[in-house]
Amino acid sequence: MIGLCEAVLLVGAAAQCWARGSLDQQPLRPEKTHLSLTHDLIGFHKNLTQIESITGNEEAVGEWLVASLSSQGYSVEKQYVEKKPARFNVLAWPGKEREAKVLLSSHIDTVPPFYPYETDNKTIHGRGSVDAKGSVATQIIAVNKLLSAGKISPDDVALLYVVGEEVGGDGMRAANDLQLSPQTIIFGEPTEGKLAAGHKGNLGVLLTAKGKAAHSGYPWLGRSANEVLVKALAALMELGQNLPESEKYGVTTLNIGKIEGGVAANVVAQDASATVAVRVAEGSPSYIKDEITNAVHKAVQSFLEGDMKPEDVVDIDFPSSGYGPIDIDHDVPGFGIITVNYGTDIPWLNQTVEGQKRYLYGPGSILVAHSDHEMLTEGQLWEAVGGYQRIVLHALGKDPCEDC
Ligand SMILES: *[C@@H]1O[C@H](CO)[C@@H](O)[C@H](O)[C@H]1NC(C)=O
Ligand SMILES: *[C@@H]1O[C@H](CO)[C@@H](O)[C@H](O)[C@H]1NC(C)=O
Ligand SMILES: *[C@@H]1O[C@H](CO)[C@@H](O)[C@H](O)[C@H]1NC(C)=O
Ligand SMILES: [Zn+2]
Repeated sequence: MIGLCEAVLLVGAAAQCWARGSLDQQPLRPEKTHLSLTHDLIGFHKNLTQIESITGNEEAVGEWLVASLSSQGYSVEKQYVEKKPARFNVLAWPGKEREAKVLLSSHIDTVPPFYPYETDNKTIHGRGSVDAKGSVATQIIAVNKLLSAGKISPDDVALLYVVGEEVGGDGMRAANDLQLSPQTIIFGEPTEGKLAAGHKGNLGVLLTAKGKAAHSGYPWLGRSANEVLVKALAALMELGQNLPESEKYGVTTLNIGKIEGGVAANVVAQDASATVAVRVAEGSPSYIKDEITNAVHKAVQSFLEGDMKPEDVVDIDFPSSGYGPIDIDHDVPGFGIITVNYGTDIPWLNQTVEGQKRYLYGPGSILVAHSDHEMLTEGQLWEAVGGYQRIVLHALGKDPCEDC
């Protein structure tokens, strides 16, 4: 609520206001003059979700977000991650300070394919409605509510929305160059309204089998890349049953996500490849890399002639360094706690401050997030607006709010 005196202040007559004696008990906050914050959660979430933003195609949603936050009075900085196609992260801050104690962050890209925004009895469907536009919208409305209620100062918070989370995290990696040093970072991903105590690690593997083409009637003249690959993958499936597990994260799992190989039934395959994702519950990526390399090398022995080495029939690549399980802070009172099996951008943002706190929280369920029935309810969105407010207040050492 804006008191009369404050309304006068807005047009710059502070002196007269005080001289006439103010009954307004609110502290004066001249910063307010430049903010005109939206509280229309459902409208904001709809506008954001309606814009297709499959990884690589984030420009339109980025521009919309920049325009919306600027018109609300935020200072906004675009950080280009790629010029063509234009892809940029959005950093915004409501006060004078770009450098804030609390940074709220999520991602604006989605997985394919696009499904349009639809509502049905307060249930919202559409690609990105959960992952992660539900988090983006509820973070912004939560911050707006705290600012409007005077519960935080504009210089307490900043917002960072990145591209590329769904494919390798290039946006968040680039965000390290923004040189931010917040005391607390709140990452938004679907956690069903609970605080995540951690998530599994991640390691990608690319196997490329190297064959020798020949007529299928004379297979001994060639070497089937498909057979090499099948042997290697069979060994990985077996290894997958025996990778390290932990009480906190459960078992390490291994998924053979994509297989390609050969050209025709009557040709011995020259090329074959497979991509594999490992979700790491325990131990370091380097241990798992060694286990994978040993298992594959052993599996292809029967293809080696003379002084050939395993590397001559199969390449094992790890496209990125991977990471082990990520422990996350979860010390805010009043939340349920979960661990999750999916990867996030958290490992890509360097911890620039000693004792920096990291939270992971957001509306909606990961179980529907990448599916053709991605959806959440208006109630879940409103609950997350409350949840983010409580986490921000906790991070700033302020009393929890009674009405959020
Ligand atoms: C959503 O978009 C519509 C149409 O451009 C606009 O009128 C409305 O103000 C927007 N609402 C929010 C909260 O962004
Ligand atoms: C709408 O959803 C509520 C809560 O899930 C349910 O009780 C109600 O019957 C639904 N109404 C219609 C018209 O489907
Ligand atoms: C972030 O950490 C990575 C890995 O340790 C390092 O290579 C990179 O230089 C760091 N970036 C910045 C901006 O500090
Ligand atoms: Zn996500």
